[in-house]
Amino acid sequence: MANTVIHTPQCRPVAASSKDKILFSMNLLIYKAEFFLRASVGVGINGISPGLVQGPVPIGATLANITNSARRVIEELGLATVGHLRAIKQVLRSNLPFPGPQLDLSAQVFAGFVNLGFNVSTLSPPFNIYANTLSFGLAAEAICIYSTILRRNYTFDRRRRATTVPPYTFTMAELTNRTSEVVNRLGGCGVKDEGLIVPFQLGAENRSTSNVVPGDVNSLAHARFEREILRIVFGTGNATMPGGLFPDGFIGALYQLIINLKLS
Ligand SMILES: *[C@@H]1O[C@H](CO)[C@@H](O)[C@H](O)[C@H]1NC(C)=O
Ligand SMILES: *[C@@H]1O[C@H](CO)[C@@H](O)[C@H](O)[C@H]1NC(C)=O
Ligand SMILES: *[C@@H]1O[C@H](CO)[C@@H](O)[C@H](O)[C@H]1NC(C)=O
Ligand SMILES: *[C@@H]1O[C@H](CO)[C@@H](O)[C@H](O)[C@H]1NC(C)=O
Ligand SMILES: *[C@@H]1O[C@H](CO)[C@@H](O)[C@H](O)[C@H]1NC(C)=O
Repeated sequence: MANTVIHTPQCRPVAASSKDKILFSMNLLIYKAEFFLRASVGVGINGISPGLVQGPVPIGATLANITNSARRVIEELGLATVGHLRAIKQVLRSNLPFPGPQLDLSAQVFAGFVNLGFNVSTLSPPFNIYANTLSFGLAAEAICIYSTILRRNYTFDRRRRATTVPPYTFTMAELTNRTSEVVNRLGGCGVKDEGLIVPFQLGAENRSTSNVVPGDVNSLAHARFEREILRIVFGTGNATMPGGLFPDGFIGALYQLIINLKLS
């Protein structure tokens, strides 16, 4: 079935080597690791694994006001992502640090996505993902498929979906719906119920790190290809107009190719 999916031109993958695709996905994994580690324990990749990534200090990092159990889960996801980065570095037989992109982890950037979802210039008070466990969990889920165990816990999910997100009157279900709509709209490639980064699979597929790595057969039918991902994470709906989570764009040859060929 996956092989029969026909992509419109703006939704097609860019032809590139596996190595360039992997390096492209490094940008996302670095974001995920920095975001989770800095929000949970206030330490970046460099504090965990010096020399793995070399890049500018992220903008707007903040410790999240979350429960201790959520903090442990988020820290663990951050550490696991550092492990993935290290494993990929070994596979690529690279002795040099991965060049890291400029990241923007600030609450304002996330608020921008939520504002777009509610069609307002700003919610009152402005949305702050770091304010509580519910808000933070939403962002975590949007950035990756958070945790298979949590996602499969329907009891948790049902209860949570009806919960209002403090200090607002809307529920988690509505917020998730609004942000999914924004992500799908910015991506411009239809409705997909998927985070941006798929975690390592267990078993035969465990070398997959991201939707953009070839061979990720299980999620091919819903894969977000490179330009779609850029349109979303930039928050601009335009793969050659950086902003949002990556104010200076991505690092790597594949991104440069997209810029040079003006593949917005
Ligand atoms: C931190 O979270 C707790 C529990 O959700 C909440 O009562 C408190 O107001 C939050 N603190 C800040 C500064 O947002
Ligand atoms: C599922 O969620 C419920 C409600 O939060 C919780 O009590 C239960 O321990 C969770 N189960 C698992 C397997 O995480
Ligand atoms: C959001 O909710 C609307 C109205 O219920 C529904 O039509 C739409 O499919 C939902 N969007 C997503 C992405 O879940
Ligand atoms: C998957 O990961 C396990 C544990 O790290 C490893 O032993 C196994 O060889 C891996 N399988 C593949 C196909 O890479
Ligand atoms: C995308 O951004 C580039 C560079 O900022 C601009 O030249 C181009 O016209 C934009 N494309 C679309 C479709 O808006």
